Amino acid sequence: MCGIVAYVGPKDAAPILLEGLQRLEYRGYDSAGVVVSNKGLKVRKVKGRVADLAKVVPARFKGGLGIGHTRWATHGVPSDVNAHPHLSADERIAVVHNGIIENAAELRAKLEADGVVFASETDTEVLAHLIAHAADENETLEEAVRKTLKSVVGTYGIAVIDAERPGEVVVARNGSPIVLGIGEKEMFAASDVAALVRYTRQVVHLEDGELAVLKADGFHTFASDARETAKEPLTVDWDAGHYDTGGYEHYLLKEISEQPETVTRTMSGRLDERFHVAHLGGLNMDARETRSFRRVKIIGCGSAYYSGQIGAQLIEELARIPSDAEPASEFRYRNPVVDPDTLYVAISQSGETYDTLAAVQELKRKGGRVIGIVNAVGSAIAREVDGGIYLHAGPEVSVASTKAFTSTAVAFALLALHLGRVRDLSPADGRRIVEGLRRLPGQIGEILAQSDKIAELAKKYAGHAGMMFVGRVRGYPVAREGAQKLKEISYVHAEAYPASELKHGPLALIGPDMPTVAIVPDDELLDKNLTTLGEIRARGGQVLMVGHREPSAKLADDAIVIPKNEIELDPILLTIPLQLFAYYAAVALGRDVDKPRNLAKSVTVE
Ligand code: G6P
Repeated sequence: MCGIVAYVGPKDAAPILLEGLQRLEYRGYDSAGVVVSNKGLKVRKVKGRVADLAKVVPARFKGGLGIGHTRWATHGVPSDVNAHPHLSADERIAVVHNGIIENAAELRAKLEADGVVFASETDTEVLAHLIAHAADENETLEEAVRKTLKSVVGTYGIAVIDAERPGEVVVARNGSPIVLGIGEKEMFAASDVAALVRYTRQVVHLEDGELAVLKADGFHTFASDARETAKEPLTVDWDAGHYDTGGYEHYLLKEISEQPETVTRTMSGRLDERFHVAHLGGLNMDARETRSFRRVKIIGCGSAYYSGQIGAQLIEELARIPSDAEPASEFRYRNPVVDPDTLYVAISQSGETYDTLAAVQELKRKGGRVIGIVNAVGSAIAREVDGGIYLHAGPEVSVASTKAFTSTAVAFALLALHLGRVRDLSPADGRRIVEGLRRLPGQIGEILAQSDKIAELAKKYAGHAGMMFVGRVRGYPVAREGAQKLKEISYVHAEAYPASELKHGPLALIGPDMPTVAIVPDDELLDKNLTTLGEIRARGGQVLMVGHREPSAKLADDAIVIPKNEIELDPILLTIPLQLFAYYAAVALGRDVDKPRNLAKSVTVE
């Protein structure tokens, strides 16, 4: 998705903007640009990478005020001209923008009727022209921006500079994140803290509808009706080191390898060995309220949704509360019945996914009780919910989610324990789960130690045009996430099916060209799963089994055998070999592992 960086202060802005844009590269983009103000606006923009942009920014690009952008095309193809920043006709105003202006066509037609000639096909360019008109009629840039935004329908995070006001940047947010970074006599802004942490850890998140004016010596924020708003700076505990590959070839491998520590952090200080419960103070709920829910509804997008399916299973099993997960993007559009006895749980690594945020807002509007399971502290979803569980997994940079997925599943185990132990979950079962959770980091380490073997298997299977992933009950969300990982980073077609449903259709696809990854834990469904393997093999299908014991050669061609935990927690461990499998398949196929084509890390548009 698009990225924004802005700087005002005593240093030259250009190198800071380029460095910031590099930090945002992981989000996915197709072109990049910067503008600095120094006796007029100086712009460079290119289709391609930030490194290509750096090559065309000359050393004489001096000036302590500037804004930069990485673009992910929505209106108009990726090209130099469509790249941001966009300038007004008189080259006085420059704008960078994330999001989508829905009434851009209408605004554009009006401006064209007034004689404005557009340089690009973007929706953003209308903002530059409108703000330039307003700047002529208003005393301050913030007033010009504020008034312009009143005529705009859609989502935006924007940064604006004015050649005639060389000491300030105006930023605004509506549905697309903007974070301010407070420095020593310098100010920053960005769409993601990743771009700021090298310079400052003191940040301020804007709310939807808010604007801010940044000057070297400080900032002030205000609402769309011009009223000043009060903001408390937050200290982020992620530093620049979190955004390095740390000696790994890819962020994805680094993040997979970090999982013993990240799941430990998710559990840290939350497990109680005396009562065999989980302490989740962030839920802001007393025991009576915790006991009152009769259903749990979980929403999220992509991998977050699949981790929610694991969560629903954990809550049903441990707390015996009917639970299910649904894509947030579907939920928000189907006019859901919101029930006072249901606990709603929104999952998001970034805390900024637009569909998930919109679903939370819809729930709150209807009086629903919503908690969040979120990684990014202070993010939009974290601010919107009534309480929640932070993952503490550290920043996830690679587009495909791995450590946030396992930490979310662990957070659900904690939530299930919490909900279960105020109901019927016995102390003995509580202890079993607490002890099982404590074993997870070491067992993840044991799975990671099998990387070489998994890499070999990935190479063996990566050449196929498609793969089937099957699992039953607890294994089904694992199969879905395994297929998701493979398709998103290796571009190998992968389909996930409940093993029980295979014979009702997809078995027709099985044959020598369509291998199956079968999730076969040692649980009460083991025999059923082994029967499915027999059915696949009888049709000439190759099988790679992921489970707890070595299968007979009759049932599987290959196997990844992993340590056994409690049956409820096994899905967390079963996911790890599938992450490695997808990673090594993508490497074998020479894919851009951390930035797969067409995808973005956090999808802040509808
Ligand atoms: C995008 C990413 C996925 C991620 C999903 C939800 O589609 O490519 O990896 O699972 O968004 O992101 P969130 O930040 O809300 O967890």
